[in-house]
Amino acid sequence: MSSLDSIAREASRLLRESKYAVVFTGSGISAEAGIPTFRGKDGLWNKYRPEELATPAAFATNPLRVWKWYAWRIGLVLRAQPTIAHRAIAELEEMGIVKAVVTQNVDGLHQRAGSKNVIELHGSIMRARCTECGYKWQIERQQSDEELPLRCPKCNALARPDVVWFGEPLPSDALYAAYREFSKADLVVIVGTSGVVEPAGSMPLITLRNGGKLINVNLERNRYSGIATISYHGKSSEFFKKLMSLMR
Ligand code: OAD
Repeated sequence: MSSLDSIAREASRLLRESKYAVVFTGSGISAEAGIPTFRGKDGLWNKYRPEELATPAAFATNPLRVWKWYAWRIGLVLRAQPTIAHRAIAELEEMGIVKAVVTQNVDGLHQRAGSKNVIELHGSIMRARCTECGYKWQIERQQSDEELPLRCPKCNALARPDVVWFGEPLPSDALYAAYREFSKADLVVIVGTSGVVEPAGSMPLITLRNGGKLINVNLERNRYSGIATISYHGKSSEFFKKLMSLMR
């Protein structure tokens, strides 16, 4: 029996026995949809400097540069489709096993896959927010350079992507909702995250401290590898394909 077989079998047992399973995801779950991760060889932070693109100071200095980078990423997200992993997680929620998805991702692929209870810790790249009046609206298409930077349709002030940048606090409603879910959970399935960005990265530890278990699915070893009951180091699509063949 391959290690994926035995890992998936053990994971399916833990999921069936769990009373309140929560899924925690990062950019690795969307990598196979063609959306780049942040760290590692092909990661965004290997090619771009976060302090020039993802901080309030960067936006104040050059809103057009920041918006052009986000418009490029919006294009990637609009062309992407949810992966097997996104769809499996939605199916596990439908089956009543997964109760919530807490994501660091801003791409909306969990919702597009059918997940209902999704908590977005870092906002959404498909939403803009007015820097003056706070009005928020959905972005439906990729903007051309001439349309940027976006302005508020209500008050015409400068708008920004409705995402969390370095140095900014997480939206308090999402933060509290996530703490609530990790406090209730007896099992957390972690998928595609290095876990190095706080406070998100430490949230699964709440469940662990309460006596709950972690399943860790990540291409390479990460901060959860030593503390998870099960770790699968490989592609999330491979793991969920095998897992769902045992869950259905
Ligand atoms: P990272 O780039 O730090 O980690 C992504 C992880 O996914 C890596 O450990 C990869 O090994 C793994 N991975 C890649 N492809 C995979 C696949 N097909 N299947 C499974 N795992 C795979 O990205 P995040 O942990 O999401 O914050 O980063 C956290 C935060 O840092 C992001 O939300 C973003 C960033 O700065 C903000 O924008 C506020």
